[in-house]
Amino acid sequence: MKKIKLSSTIYEYDSIEEIDKADKELLLQAKKACLSAYAPYSKYYVGAATLLENGKIFTGNNQENIATPSGMCAERVAVFSASSHYPETPIKAIAITSKAKDFIVDTPVTPCGACRQVLAEYETKFNSNIKLILMGETGKILIINSIKDILPLMFHADKLKK
Ligand code: THU
Repeated sequence: MKKIKLSSTIYEYDSIEEIDKADKELLLQAKKACLSAYAPYSKYYVGAATLLENGKIFTGNNQENIATPSGMCAERVAVFSASSHYPETPIKAIAITSKAKDFIVDTPVTPCGACRQVLAEYETKFNSNIKLILMGETGKILIINSIKDILPLMFHADKLKK
C-alpha cells in the first residue's frame, strides 16, 4: 500500500484592491451579473464573468427552474455563452461571486462539481489553463491558476485512449 498525497496552490487576498487590475475588472463584471440572476427558489444569486484570449468578456448568472434540474449555474451560463460565440478562442479566466437575499456571503463562492468538469473540458480543449477568481459579497478573494487544482483525478480525454 502506498499513500498518495495531493496538493494544490490557492492564493488568498484580503481585498479586491490587492489583485491584478484585469482580475478586479472581471470580478466587478461578475458582481454586476449576479444582480440579475434568476434565483427565486434559493434566493442565492451567483454571477460569473469569463475572459477570452481575444479580450472579450461574457457574463452569466444562475437561472433556476421550478423543475430543479432544469436550472443552470452561473459559471456554465457564462462559459457556454462564450464558447457558443467564440468556439475557437481559449478561455483565460473566470470570476465568480455571489450574494444572498437573507445573509451576507462573506466567504468566496467555489464552483460546484459539474461546473468544474465543464471548465476542465475547455482547459483540455485549448490546452490552456483557466484562472479562477473567487469572492463572496464581501471578504477574502481566492485566486487559483487552473481548474486542475480543484478537480484532482479528473476524467480526462486521455482515458479514452489505449
Ligand atoms: N450555483 C451557481 O450558480 N454556481 C455555483 O457554483 C454553485 C451554485 C447556483 C445554483 C442555484 O441556483 C443556487 O446557486 C443555489 O444552489
